[in-house]
Amino acid sequence: MSAGFATIVAPEKATVSELLDLIAQQVAGCKRCGLCAGRTNTVPGSGNPHARVMLIGEAPGKNEDLKGQPFVGAAGKNLGEFLSFAGLNRDDVFIANILKCRPPSNRNPQPEEIELCTPYLRDQVRAISPQYLVTMGNFATQFILKTQKGITSLRGTPISVGKFTVFPVFHPAAAIYDRSKRAVLEQDFTRLGVLLSTVSSDESDPSSGAANS
Ligand code: URA
Repeated sequence: MSAGFATIVAPEKATVSELLDLIAQQVAGCKRCGLCAGRTNTVPGSGNPHARVMLIGEAPGKNEDLKGQPFVGAAGKNLGEFLSFAGLNRDDVFIANILKCRPPSNRNPQPEEIELCTPYLRDQVRAISPQYLVTMGNFATQFILKTQKGITSLRGTPISVGKFTVFPVFHPAAAIYDRSKRAVLEQDFTRLGVLLSTVSSDESDPSSGAANS
């Protein structure tokens, strides 16, 4: 393995798109855990390779498994709406999940599955090098922040982690059954938009300015 990537050998001078394609190819052939047996498609993630904002969800559901794309079901419709509160659309961001295959009956990801699958996510983050990691729900937030704290206490506050600003929000699916969570998600994505407009895209230190306020 080369250049710090765990799941691919990166050719010299590869573009970000090429790196993401290589990772997606590795995901497509992955048999690291039992989830490979039940999948229709892998769901490596999709979006803008040069995104300032990378969104991280939990795992593909039924629609995502059928289409091979993240957030194309009901939660995806919500996500599109919430992104607009930040002044963003799907073409502006890159969307990925903790797990690249659908867990049976949409059960929670298991610790071993997370351990085996997240090297792909780490390599995607390394390739894209976004400013913001928007973690959606408990699994993404706890993995990225290496914490056991729950999303309810963490959401809506940016946290500097190395060169990234992590911005935890409720999972968009939470808004399907709970209108109070919809309002909180709208508020948090609005805050994300403010952060994005305050910190310029070429500013390399996310711990400065509004991101740390
Ligand atoms: N929920 C997720 O966490 N990810 C998806 O891709 C779809 C629903």
